Amino acid sequence: MNVGIDLIHFSTSDYYLGLDVFAKEKHIDVDKYFVGIGQEKMSIAPPDEDVVSLAAKAAAPILQQIDKNQISAVLFATESGVDQSKSAGAFLHGLLKLSPRCRVVEFKHACYAGAAALQMATAMVRANPKEKILVVAADIAKYDVDTSGEATQGCGAVAMLVTANPRIIAIEPGSGYHTEDVMDFWRPNQRTTALVDGKYSTKVYLNSLKQAWQHFTEETGRTFGDINHFCYHIPFTKMAEKAHHTLAKVAGVKLTEDEFRAQTWPSQIYNRIVGNSYSASLFVGFCSLLDNLKENLENRRVSFFSYGSGCVAEFFTGLIQPGYQQVLMSASHQRQIDSRQPLTYAQYLAFYHQVDDNVENITFERHNKGPYRLAGIQDHKRYYEAQ
Ligand code: CAA
Repeated sequence: MNVGIDLIHFSTSDYYLGLDVFAKEKHIDVDKYFVGIGQEKMSIAPPDEDVVSLAAKAAAPILQQIDKNQISAVLFATESGVDQSKSAGAFLHGLLKLSPRCRVVEFKHACYAGAAALQMATAMVRANPKEKILVVAADIAKYDVDTSGEATQGCGAVAMLVTANPRIIAIEPGSGYHTEDVMDFWRPNQRTTALVDGKYSTKVYLNSLKQAWQHFTEETGRTFGDINHFCYHIPFTKMAEKAHHTLAKVAGVKLTEDEFRAQTWPSQIYNRIVGNSYSASLFVGFCSLLDNLKENLENRRVSFFSYGSGCVAEFFTGLIQPGYQQVLMSASHQRQIDSRQPLTYAQYLAFYHQVDDNVENITFERHNKGPYRLAGIQDHKRYYEAQ
């Protein structure tokens, strides 16, 4: 029995900051961003957007296509959760009016949690093929102003319906993984912004890729040549390029420039203009591949490399299913990206400083144009609105 992603849809915020505007503000050559790290824009969340509203915007179009009472579990992956105790998934469950006969839990390990939730969901469906599981990965990447990470912010959510006989991709059993207790990126409980040892984090990412790949090849017997397209966790697109060079070298494969581009470029197009979305980023990359590669991907093997700082990494693969193009929601993805409003640096800073999860009482002005928004916080309780 095949198990995997039956439907997939992503969301991002209604605003962005161009890295050209950012470069001008910081008096830095724009090519450091456009070329050096491979990023052009960062999606910026207004104060009335959080991971719950982003997740609801990602999931709603999936639920419109199925009987939502059949959702048997919500697995919510995030690094930027809204409560230390209550799962963001429980807020999402309420907003989407899902059946009470459903389990909800939040997954955390930095950017790895989305892949962990997907793998957990496939295992649950293999154990009971009647299960229909909503996996959502949602994050708002936020660093301190004037730090190296500031240019690599962004936000987004990806919702995936995981079922038996999936229409988009069957996740193949067997994966390679690697865990190591390191401090390359972390966020203590009291902080709303992440701390990072930037250069070190890129080294740990690449080492984890080598280790996870080695384990993957031992577990599955598959080789580099068995994979047609490679999706990587993308904190910034240059990282994915470095990853692919590293993997090809480790596997002893020499690629032409055209082969290199064909294997990785389509999965970077959205991330380049959305920015980092931590746990969602790998799957934004997968949506980018599905939407932007005009060739038919049926029966092709796609690999996924998930990297979560701290660190946990996993390498696994899936097979694209016949007819997958009929269920893609590419137009919605493109519409959201195209309709974002540009911010000046001052407007970005105003949004940046207004978001404060620690306030006890606040009513948010409407900036979020999406179907769901964070309306306010009263007595430390979050209140959401659906249009
Ligand atoms: N034209 C072209 N290229 C230029 C340039 C110019 N004018 N100026 C600089 N560059 C190049 C540099 O040569 C460099 O290229 P290489 O990496 O190939 O050497 C690149 O642009 C970046 O320049 P710097 O190294 O000087 O940039 P920096 O020190 O300001 O920051 C960074 C780079 C450390 C990655 C920073 O963006 C950062 O801290 N990011 C957040 C951490 C991160 O994303 N880490 C990734 C791995 S961890 C992970 O994946 C989990 C996660 O999501 C956080």
